[in-house]
Amino acid sequence: MSLVQQLATEVAEMRSAGTFKTELELEGPQGAVVKVKGKGEVVMLTSNNYLGLANHPEIVEAAEKAESDYGYGLASVRFICGTQDIHKKLEARIAAFFGTEDTILYGSCWNANEGLFQAVCDEPDGIFSDELNHASIIDGIRLSKARRLRYKNRDAEGLDALLEGNKDVRRKLIMTDGVFSMEGSLAPLPRLVEIAKKHDGFLVVDESHGTGVLGATGRGTAEELGVFGKIDAYTSTLGKALGGSHGGFTTGPTALVEYLRQKSRPYLFSNTLPPAVVMGSLAAFDVLERDSSVVTKLHENTKYFRAKLTAMGLNIRPGVHPIVPVIIGDTAKAIAMSKQLLDRGVYVSGFGYPVVPQGQARLRCQISAAHEREHLDRAIDAIRAVATEHGIL
Ligand SMILES: Cc1ncc(COP(=O)(O)O)c(C=O)c1O
Repeated sequence: MSLVQQLATEVAEMRSAGTFKTELELEGPQGAVVKVKGKGEVVMLTSNNYLGLANHPEIVEAAEKAESDYGYGLASVRFICGTQDIHKKLEARIAAFFGTEDTILYGSCWNANEGLFQAVCDEPDGIFSDELNHASIIDGIRLSKARRLRYKNRDAEGLDALLEGNKDVRRKLIMTDGVFSMEGSLAPLPRLVEIAKKHDGFLVVDESHGTGVLGATGRGTAEELGVFGKIDAYTSTLGKALGGSHGGFTTGPTALVEYLRQKSRPYLFSNTLPPAVVMGSLAAFDVLERDSSVVTKLHENTKYFRAKLTAMGLNIRPGVHPIVPVIIGDTAKAIAMSKQLLDRGVYVSGFGYPVVPQGQARLRCQISAAHEREHLDRAIDAIRAVATEHGIL
């Protein structure tokens, strides 16, 4: 069988097993309500558009102005001819936001994670990584020759023991997601800070689902848990709360950032961020930092939605994050419910095994500051109706 025939067979198998991912087409921008091809207008309950900035007029305007002032693209990597004043400005803005010394921009947070470990850790070193860390961290670690040391999800004491048992390791890089995106759960950062200090480790937190989302001013999981200023470095994305377009970064000590500019391969060998994204991201920081009302609205919406689902008797993962997983159990049921919700005008994704553990299939709801009460109520009513049809309520 040719390669193409083999692939076609595997795709057909995925289709019949129900694991083939179909993509719905949006006929318009991202928002609280979106137009889905063939379905019409539905409430969006499954996007990372946490602050509702994906189609914010001020951000769109900034991006348009960037194209007229700075052009469409730079046709280069940063160190050849891909750096404009706005790239430097955004890096400084991110560092000021996180209270760090400097920032390096990447094409995505995937690239930031991919470009971290191989650059800073070699054979004598060790990377201590939470087992539920994002795929980009897992793949990034694979690129490094350092020892790979995994600890159980959010198990700070397990990490402590792992560090204790690997004292011979030269550099000890501890890596965790701030927010675990299938659970909406938070890393135990206060304890991780203590443990990193005890073992002379370097703690890096991927704040992709924390930035703009958690803490009173949206500074992330560290702010939420009272350890802002105590994390050694962060990676994060510009593609979720901060406008939802593209781009990522690593922010931390100057020495780390300078070193990454010299050694980090996705930075050295991949194109610079386009001006529209850079100025759009700067405008996203303007909106976020002008006042915290957009973050407060997100938190209020999240509290309201979580309380209603809990009162209804659904099994949701407890917590504070706008990722609200409703545990259904059976994968086929979760997928069927997701389809029925779409028919009722609510777009929410169902996730099953192997993305989540066997028997813990779920509907992953995500709340946004863009939602008004009527959107949340529409979603809550649809979830109640579909859960009742399936005998869950
Ligand atoms: C924890 C985490 N890290 C990294 C990424 C990748 O971010 P980006 O889309 O900027 O590559 C994601 C995106 O899903 C994520 O959830």
